[in-house]
Amino acid sequence: MLSRIAVRNTSQLARTNFTHVSARCMTASAVSQSDYQHLRTLGANHLNKGVGRITDGIMVKGEGSYVKYDDGRKYLDFTCGIGVTNLGHANKRVSRAAAEQCMKLVHSQCSIAMHEPYLRLIQNILPVMPHKSLDSFFFWNSGSEAVEASLKMARTLTGRQNIICMQGAYHGRTYGAMAVTKSKTIYSQNTHPLMPGAFSIPFPYWHNMNLPPDTPVSKLTEQCLYQLDLLLAQQTHPKDTAAIIVEPVLGEGGYVAAPKEFLEGLRRVCDQHGMLLIVDEVQSGYGRTGTMFAIEESGVRPDMMIIAKGLGNGFPISGVISRRELTDKLAPGTVGGTYAGNAVSCAAAAEVLEVFKEDKILENVAVRSKQLFKHLESLQQDPTLAPYILDIRGRGLMIGIEFASRTGIAPTSTQHEVGIVADAPEKMASRVAKKCIEKGMLILTTSVYEVVRFIPPLNVKEDDMKKGCKIFEEAVREVVREG
Ligand SMILES: Cc1ncc(COP(=O)(O)O)c(C=O)c1O
Repeated sequence: MLSRIAVRNTSQLARTNFTHVSARCMTASAVSQSDYQHLRTLGANHLNKGVGRITDGIMVKGEGSYVKYDDGRKYLDFTCGIGVTNLGHANKRVSRAAAEQCMKLVHSQCSIAMHEPYLRLIQNILPVMPHKSLDSFFFWNSGSEAVEASLKMARTLTGRQNIICMQGAYHGRTYGAMAVTKSKTIYSQNTHPLMPGAFSIPFPYWHNMNLPPDTPVSKLTEQCLYQLDLLLAQQTHPKDTAAIIVEPVLGEGGYVAAPKEFLEGLRRVCDQHGMLLIVDEVQSGYGRTGTMFAIEESGVRPDMMIIAKGLGNGFPISGVISRRELTDKLAPGTVGGTYAGNAVSCAAAAEVLEVFKEDKILENVAVRSKQLFKHLESLQQDPTLAPYILDIRGRGLMIGIEFASRTGIAPTSTQHEVGIVADAPEKMASRVAKKCIEKGMLILTTSVYEVVRFIPPLNVKEDDMKKGCKIFEEAVREVVREG
């Protein structure tokens, strides 16, 4: 999921920038530099190399919008651990709720007994559901597990096997989730065959369809819904098709919001054929796009909704939400798992929703979103940068900026790809992200295109947003200058 950005020597550069933090950080810590050195060597020798990582060193502390490393580096974190610590790192209220629960009951196991935090979480989350029909909850640990549960439930409930997903989608790295993930080949490379019965259609993203950025969404939508009809006529008969799974904002596929008309079209087709609509809000959910769930804007009703990431602000918890009328048909034992709906994670997640209300998080998202868009759009208006900025998009604080590419995705064969600018800096997105990191801000790329994504904390302060914008602008200018 992380784009591999080589960040060698980052530590040295950032060390120079943040030496003043180093002293403070180190006095607060009981761990000596030589201990950290030992741990770094241990990591270098024993960590699984299959994990990609954008920084080196050891992250030792998180506080609000910032994280600190063992060598004193301090970063403004505009990744939120990929959309997780949305209320800031180590949010005091959330951590306290978890700590208190730790002293009462850590684990009860969902097949042994209900526990109070699970039920409190349901009590707090019910009022923020995007549709009142969503009233049946199953909590699990990770997004991928929740995706697996939704696919299994869809097959069980419809008695059908096939699943339709979107080109550019990301749903996780377990076998079922990998089968419906179509954003990058790296996620399933060398592991086929995956779960059978997964079919895909294009997502209405101009670049996916090799159309110009200003293509009207109505045309993109029309093309994609036509492909859906074609798929149902040519490849998977509706009576063999259990569900359509969709992210309302494509996350790992480039931060592209699905047009309302497209989501309505999917709903229509599902209703027409008795298929279920599964909405994956793992990355787009929980205030990220300015509403509690991104699907809200469209008014479309999901049959199942998958949530994770921001739900526990860092405590591992995910969920599949459906309606009782459906889940009442499941035989007990169909879903479950040792750690499903862990008591500490549920206590944290219940508190997250209290913080949302009391700290008026959605209001902050609205103003900080305007601030960020305004700055990015000012870059686009600068004639020296304009030729290299193809698109600024997103909602709330889930914002992507797409740069031009010098070569396109298939440098040897693609002659007609849109977004190719002959003198554009090579690999612009990853170079910009790398420079941001060198300047003290963590930020990620996304998709196979040249896209940098902003995932700042939802309670980010005006000054920190200003600082993040400044770092980003400097990085873009430097990359353009260097060519
Ligand atoms: C939309 C979406 N679905 C599912 C997942 C998988 O979640 P997890 O990494 O918790 O398994 C992710 C993770 O990035 C995601 O963005």
